[in-house]
Amino acid sequence: MVNSRPVFLELWRIRLPIPGVVSILHRVSGVLMVLAIPVFAALFAQALSGSAGFASAAALASSAFGQLALLVLGWSLLHHLLAGLRYLALDLGWGLDRPMARKTAWTTLYSALALTLIGAVVLR
Ligand code: HEM
Repeated sequence: MVNSRPVFLELWRIRLPIPGVVSILHRVSGVLMVLAIPVFAALFAQALSGSAGFASAAALASSAFGQLALLVLGWSLLHHLLAGLRYLALDLGWGLDRPMARKTAWTTLYSALALTLIGAVVLR
């Protein structure tokens, strides 16, 4: 069977509406969290292996790289949580009209960023 669907692969020229951006970020954040599970398990095991292991795990977590990774994962959890709740509401038929869908998408995007920054300041 010949597939006649149009294909447009110039990703940088595709201008997604904001609900599309939130949707992609929901997927990206979900994948980031899944990938983080084995890393956290290994770090946790190292921290429990003894005082030297704990010190090296703590040093990694408080390094610039560790802090950046925790910030990105914190945002991932918050964005995924808020966008996930938005999808569950959409599944129930709430907020389906375009103006409301755009409004809730912007709210999701900014709320996750704001909560991430607040969390980063509070937990410092
Ligand atoms: C915190 C509460 C969470 C809520 C409310 C939530 C909600 C959702 C929902 C509604 C979907 C389906 C989205 C769709 O219809 O396409 C989904 C997908 C997914 N979730 Fe979550 N989730 C949560 C936590 C997590 C966590 C902790 C992880 C990873 C450790 C995770 C990983 C994923 C992945 C990988 C997908 C598939 C993404 C995709 O293919 O688009 N979620 N989540």
